[in-house]
Amino acid sequence: MSERSDKIGKTNLSDRSMDIAEVLKLADDLLFTHTGDRLDHLQETIIKGTLQGQKYAKIASENHLSEGHVRDTASKLWQNLSDVLGEDVNKLNVGSILEKITISNSVSSGNFISFHQLSICSERRRSPKSSPFSKQTETKPNLDLDTAPAITTFYGRTEEINKLKTWIIEPHTRIITLLGIPGIGKTTLAIKLIEEIPDQFQYIIYRSLRFCPNIDTFLTDLLQTSFASSTLPNTLDQKITQLLKILRQYRCLIILDDLQMLFQPGQFAGQYQAKFEGYYLLFKQIAESSHPSCLFLISSEQPECLTSDRSKFVQVLKLSGLGESATQILKDKELLDEEHWHNLIKKYQGHPLWLEMTATMIHELFAGKVTEFLTYPSLILSNEITSQLNRLWIRLTDTEKQVMNYLAKQEDAVTLMQVLQLISHPPTEVLKAIQSLKIRCLLEDTPNCDRSSLLKINSILKSYITSHPSLPG
Ligand SMILES: Nc1ncnc2c1ncn2[C@@H]1O[C@H](COP(=O)(O)OP(=O)(O)OP(=O)(O)O)[C@@H](O)[C@H]1O
Ligand SMILES: [Mg+2]
Repeated sequence: MSERSDKIGKTNLSDRSMDIAEVLKLADDLLFTHTGDRLDHLQETIIKGTLQGQKYAKIASENHLSEGHVRDTASKLWQNLSDVLGEDVNKLNVGSILEKITISNSVSSGNFISFHQLSICSERRRSPKSSPFSKQTETKPNLDLDTAPAITTFYGRTEEINKLKTWIIEPHTRIITLLGIPGIGKTTLAIKLIEEIPDQFQYIIYRSLRFCPNIDTFLTDLLQTSFASSTLPNTLDQKITQLLKILRQYRCLIILDDLQMLFQPGQFAGQYQAKFEGYYLLFKQIAESSHPSCLFLISSEQPECLTSDRSKFVQVLKLSGLGESATQILKDKELLDEEHWHNLIKKYQGHPLWLEMTATMIHELFAGKVTEFLTYPSLILSNEITSQLNRLWIRLTDTEKQVMNYLAKQEDAVTLMQVLQLISHPPTEVLKAIQSLKIRCLLEDTPNCDRSSLLKINSILKSYITSHPSLPG
């Protein structure tokens, strides 16, 4: 033991104002790492008073506060410290626990201090608490983005980026799910977002689940490649525990793309295939345990049990078209007849990939003339769009296909009751199918004047279904 730590071991903490400052700094770093929040004045006062053996009543009266308020604040503080340290912290033991870590800090040599295999960065400066956009880390994050697609152009999405930034910067958001039909721009938006929040995280990782790795392979790769874990536990349980420890220890952003590949095709949407249930359990644990990290899921089907209304820790953003920003795409494609671009964008729902594909077709078949293309009475879907929609169609259940077929034939939006009456399947089955189509982002749901919902599908899907009468269902 060093000379200094020996002295600490034999001295009463309450006699050493210097060490109280150290302990306060430690508690501040611990909390910051855990919640992203700094100790406020009252929390500091409570720790100081407790270390000096004061009762809550005395702390309250000295600070002109009610005893109840001090007691409540203290109880939350001990709970937060318990969560981050993984052991019960209370008024009686907070001094000895923090002192123990301070001692181990004094004998450790680097920037990181350890306690119960938990490390915190002790070199952070206090940042102003008031600004939600304040910097969270001052070092460059570790990036593991090798498999992320490079984006060359990016237009619009200001509102979406701002919303995502707010959720991401808020340290309590543990899981964000970005949803939208294929090609709508989910991956592009997520990659762009990384540029917007470079100093918020210590780790930023991108992985696609396109090739459906089993959960064990996925975790092994993540721990070894992204977090350079030298010791890898044997069991899945232990690997999850190790990952959760890291998520508590560092502020990490893990982007998991193409989540829908883990779901059952031909079944109602968002249900994990039996062999991928482990992912569901992992996400649930990440949503339920306390940490400052964020898991960013990207999917064309909303995963079960991770909806935004369940808790403030989980947020969902459903992506729609690019709107007028899509004119930039048509400009890049050097299409003609600019005055009709608005019409083209509307017909293709501002869907960036459909517009890119259609622009290519307009060049190939109509020498870039949008007016000529638009003179055709029905929407023309390029072969690429059709193949993309074929892949989507085969994932639907028979009842979903029936509902889609019915909606494709309707001029206007219809009520739920109309769908139930006209489809020859048991009503519960039809209701489940409608719910599932919503989860796949295939149904547009607009409120009726009597607040019942009106259902319709977008014009591209309509055109796909009506121009393919041989589609099953
Ligand atoms: N904001 C944007 N600005 C310009 N182009 C965009 C934008 N978003 C998407 N795109 C274009 O649309 C294409 C499809 O986007 P992206 O791959 O992000 O869609 P996705 O929703 O992730 O599709 P999938 O579900 O198939 O993975 C991109 O390759 C890009 O060319
Ligand atoms: Mg994608």
